[in-house]
Amino acid sequence: MDTAKDQVVSAAVAPAGAPVRDLTPAEIDALAVAGDFAAISKPHMSPILGRYYERSWSHGEGHTLYDSDGRGFLDFACGIATTSLGHHHPAVTQAIKDQADKLLHICNALGYLEPVARLATLLADACPDPLDTVFFCNSGAEAIESALKLARRVTGRPGIIAFRGAFHGRTFGAASITSSSLNYRLGYEPLLPSVYLTPFPNVYRYFGDDEEAATAGAMGALRTLLGHEIPASSVAAIIIEPIQGEGGFNPAPASFLRQLRALCDENGIMLICDEVQTGVGRTGKMWAFEEAGIVPDVVCVAKALANGMPLGAIVTRRELQEKWGVGAHGTTFGGNPVSCAAGIAVMKTIAEQDLIANAAARGAELQTALKALMAKDDRIGDVRGRGLMVGVELVKDRTTRDPDTDLCETLLLACADQGLLVLNCGTHHNVMRFLPPIDVTTEEIATAVELFAAALRSLPRSAA
Ligand SMILES: Cc1ncc(COP(=O)(O)O)c(C=O)c1O
Repeated sequence: MDTAKDQVVSAAVAPAGAPVRDLTPAEIDALAVAGDFAAISKPHMSPILGRYYERSWSHGEGHTLYDSDGRGFLDFACGIATTSLGHHHPAVTQAIKDQADKLLHICNALGYLEPVARLATLLADACPDPLDTVFFCNSGAEAIESALKLARRVTGRPGIIAFRGAFHGRTFGAASITSSSLNYRLGYEPLLPSVYLTPFPNVYRYFGDDEEAATAGAMGALRTLLGHEIPASSVAAIIIEPIQGEGGFNPAPASFLRQLRALCDENGIMLICDEVQTGVGRTGKMWAFEEAGIVPDVVCVAKALANGMPLGAIVTRRELQEKWGVGAHGTTFGGNPVSCAAGIAVMKTIAEQDLIANAAARGAELQTALKALMAKDDRIGDVRGRGLMVGVELVKDRTTRDPDTDLCETLLLACADQGLLVLNCGTHHNVMRFLPPIDVTTEEIATAVELFAAALRSLPRSAA
């Protein structure tokens, strides 16, 4: 449980499980003045969403998120890797206001719009050759759906191979290739047919930190799958997060990504990289796949692309989307001009301020400081990541690497008590993820690590 005022449950709101009654307009106004948006939410908002915090949030400024009590928190969660330029960014806010004054929506099926066209150009330029053609949608899951549909239609093959522990989204297609938690699949079967899951080269958890062993093991399992369950000639696509996000911030070894690319090339299989969490500069490269020197056939993008405005995209070489065929896919809201205007401001700011280099440099500082903490506290089993996508794995015992889920959950709230927002992830929910804004400073990195260390110190070892 949280400790701040946000725990206050209004007298008008029943405890969990009990029937909830409607609030009167006067009660809603009173709760709004008190900043208790949680209480206003309870009667009519779906309980389906799990929430990291029971806090009510008011506004954001730069790298600080404020709750409705006016307390500021250093935001290293960034709306789950989305507000990568922080809150109320002047260029992004201005671009949104200017476009809102001009035109909110027409649907791109009706014709052509300047911000949409310009962002497509910037996105294509930000991708390596031959990736030059953009299809816009609204979200990460929609980008995944688009990629899967394109792969099946263009190859004429049914098979999709995905990796265990992956998270690709909540729609049926995306859920069918997601396995970071059973809860995302349970009760939804039958999921998409002809989907096959194969082990991810999880270096820390299954291969004793040995990247080459992880590559060999995961490639071996994939070849076994192709030899026994579905022939390569029936596989449309293999989809991978170059660094698993929700699954625990697990980077795929570069050697694995290269071998995967080669296997796809040998067999006419499309390689889809899900860069929804890793993309747009977060990992110290524009795209995480660049680390391995490969180029996928399809890149899926969303989250940070418009710094919090809903926007997703896939980028491929032109020939693939020509083969996909006019009308084979579409969207009403996708590539909304206000979101695209925000996206242009994001792409320009990243280039003008050299923020990819900043992500690499500040990320190295973050890892160094967290590793120093790990040297003093054996509850930390591993510190890993790329750029400003850094995970801290909490364990009960460094030798057995037994995951410490309870510690991670308690620590998350203790960090917030200290004034730092981070998130947990991992198939065992025992990895703390640091996702700072990519324009973060050295001083903010140092502050965050101090707050994290104070939160860890505040928890007795018996909590572990
Ligand atoms: C790697 C990855 N792919 C896809 C998604 C789905 O994106 P969205 O929530 O925008 O549908 C997410 C969301 O967390 C993600 O991390």
